[in-house]
Amino acid sequence: MNNKLISSGCAGVVLTCLLAFIPGMKIDPVINENFAVAAAQYEKMLAVSKDMIQYPRGTAKDGSLRYVGIGDWTGGFWPGALWYMFEHTGEQQWRIAAEKWTESLESNQYNTKHHDIGFMMYNSYGNGLRLTNNESYKPILIQSAKSLIKRYSPVVGSIQSWNSRKSKDGNAWDFPVIIDNMMNLELLFWATKVTGDNSYRDIAIRHAETSMKNHVRPDYSSYHVVSYDTITGAPAYRQTAQGFSDNSTWSRGQAWGIYGFTTTYRETKDKRFLKTAMGMADFFLNNKTLPEDKIPLWDFNVGKPGFIPDWKYEPAKYTEIPRDASAAAIASSALLELSEYVSKGKAKKYRKAATEMIHSLSTSAYRAEPGTNNFFILKNSVGALPMDSEVNVPLVYADYYFLEALLRLKKLNN
Ligand code: GLY
Repeated sequence: MNNKLISSGCAGVVLTCLLAFIPGMKIDPVINENFAVAAAQYEKMLAVSKDMIQYPRGTAKDGSLRYVGIGDWTGGFWPGALWYMFEHTGEQQWRIAAEKWTESLESNQYNTKHHDIGFMMYNSYGNGLRLTNNESYKPILIQSAKSLIKRYSPVVGSIQSWNSRKSKDGNAWDFPVIIDNMMNLELLFWATKVTGDNSYRDIAIRHAETSMKNHVRPDYSSYHVVSYDTITGAPAYRQTAQGFSDNSTWSRGQAWGIYGFTTTYRETKDKRFLKTAMGMADFFLNNKTLPEDKIPLWDFNVGKPGFIPDWKYEPAKYTEIPRDASAAAIASSALLELSEYVSKGKAKKYRKAATEMIHSLSTSAYRAEPGTNNFFILKNSVGALPMDSEVNVPLVYADYYFLEALLRLKKLNN
């Protein structure tokens, strides 16, 4: 979430409409077009999703809308998407729905079961606070930050992502940290600004430094999982859970990295994080397996001739390498913010690439016809291919970051 995005309200709608009709203004028409599709889909989604106990996540194996419970890592994206609808349109119906779905997540402020509290609470309550200044959201977000840092180990210098578990090949992951965890740091930076307590920010910075050292390879590709020795704090295993192989680069993980290091640079102005964000962005954009439409394959190491030749987990039914629209949505949003911090030449490269991704996602190859796709906007994301889970389906977080990217593009157009 970019805290500098334009605040909304009725005035926002009027302004958007005026700008859209002033000759010479360069409001990209895909922005309004996509929000119109989103409105059509989400009105239907709201009509079928009423109980606020089960959160829309994607499509289930039987083709139906997949809901998850309040503890699932994805619960904050649906309220967050509704906040983005309100931000773009200024329409009260979206605000009312966003408030209801956000507030249904309240008990998660005490959730210490995984690292995903940042995703869950900052995308819901954080967006709500930014757009409405509802003071009652602040203590809930502060408690969420408190819960998140309970998972921090000063020995490792990281927040533990998942509880200890065994890897697929039987290794004991005592302290697994995934690159995705970079996304939870924004909540901690916010908590320090609001409370004046530096411990949240210090932990966020230390986590980012540790990930920069151990998740990011010298060529700026990334490991998905690094599990640490809890006594020495040293990496014990560098592996994957959702990518092709331990040494490959899972596309969504790379996108989380670009986004997370960009946010960390915004909050610290420490050039090491900017360098890392740029390196990871350049790896993504310059990769030889990135298709012309810039929607990545699910993993950057599978686009070579001879599809996944030695992959022991390969579900035989995938004869084509799936694309991951969610990785493109996250990366496009991240690149638009990153473009604000770099030289003119780099800014042009990142904005052009992000715009191309957004335009590709706006075609019928990736964007659903209203009334289809279980009422999500984007098709063709991949949850966890090695587990044969959520392959070529809509995912709520793809929608969330797509809407965020559209809002960032709108702001840059303006
Ligand atoms: N954070 C989980 C995922 O990206 O699938």
